[in-house]
Amino acid sequence: MLPGAAVVGWGTALPPVVVTNKDLEAYLDTSDEWITERTGIKERRIGGTVAELATQAGKMAIVNSGIVPSDIDLLVLATTTPDESVPATSAVVHSALGLSGAAFDINAACSGFVYGLTVARGAIATGCSRVLLIGADVLSRITDKMDRSTAVLFADGAGALILERREDSDNFLGWDIGIDGSLHDLLYAELGGYIKMQGRDVFRKAVQAMVGSARSALERASLTTDDISLVVPHQANLRIIEAAAARLNIPMERVAVSIDHNGNTSSASIPLALVDAIDAGRIADGDIILLTGFGAGMTWASAVIRWGR
Ligand code: UT7
Repeated sequence: MLPGAAVVGWGTALPPVVVTNKDLEAYLDTSDEWITERTGIKERRIGGTVAELATQAGKMAIVNSGIVPSDIDLLVLATTTPDESVPATSAVVHSALGLSGAAFDINAACSGFVYGLTVARGAIATGCSRVLLIGADVLSRITDKMDRSTAVLFADGAGALILERREDSDNFLGWDIGIDGSLHDLLYAELGGYIKMQGRDVFRKAVQAMVGSARSALERASLTTDDISLVVPHQANLRIIEAAAARLNIPMERVAVSIDHNGNTSSASIPLALVDAIDAGRIADGDIILLTGFGAGMTWASAVIRWGR
């Protein structure tokens, strides 16, 4: 049997600047009422670089795990807004954290963190002892702050997990990743340009993609939605989350929501919501957690995890 893995630590980082809906009202043709009703967002954090936020989240995860940087064999950084074209932003984070193993970036847009989880899990199966996975994005960098259709949604942040090898057990029960590249023009940013999005089409496809992917991951885990203690969905729009949860027959009491204070932070959104739920005491050892997301591409990704070190 191949070795398995468990999550042994976590960390997050948010920039200090809070931008409320009221702040946006001052220079955009929008309102707190519209943003709250249509998206569920009340405020978001803006600023920093991917390397800064990722380093902060990674440092917290290392401390939380009770390990030292040299215990880590691989850093996987999921980001869709790298600080430079070359080298990968993970090179800067690797140096800042004093790591000694390998490092690379992956980009699967808002599905990046769960894509990264499957990559990290695979690296453990093929020899790594510990992998640091970070999702970090500075979407404000590619968002036109004067475009009300995107500026109210996107924000900045980072979240990290550390996965550790287990010889006789595996807390990774099932996963699913996929893409329909023919939908790439629903949401894109040209090099050096701002995000362009067909919001309503993304909304419709997002619900289908998350529900289909969640079902596939559950099937591979030989589990049903009744077995899930908590769903941690990508935080793009509260209405998308509610629609997906309804189709999966999962009540909102079993869904993690942090979009109200974080906005859409792309690769960081799932780990930020997950760590919020941990901090709120909503996750206990043995719980089965479903992570599920979608993003530009259009990508989708889901993972079913048993919680516990
Ligand atoms: O990580 C993946 C990222 N993207 C997404 O997940 C986005 C998915 N889509 C959405 O979340 C929603 O489609 C939006 C939040 C982007 C838009 O909500 P909607 O309910 O689909 O609104 P809509 O695009 O159908 O627009 C309705 C109206 C329009 O005005 P008219 O044409 O009816 O006069 C928009 O111009 O709302 C207007 N509008 C706004 N009004 C006030 C669009 N943005 C705003 C705004 N404030 N910020």
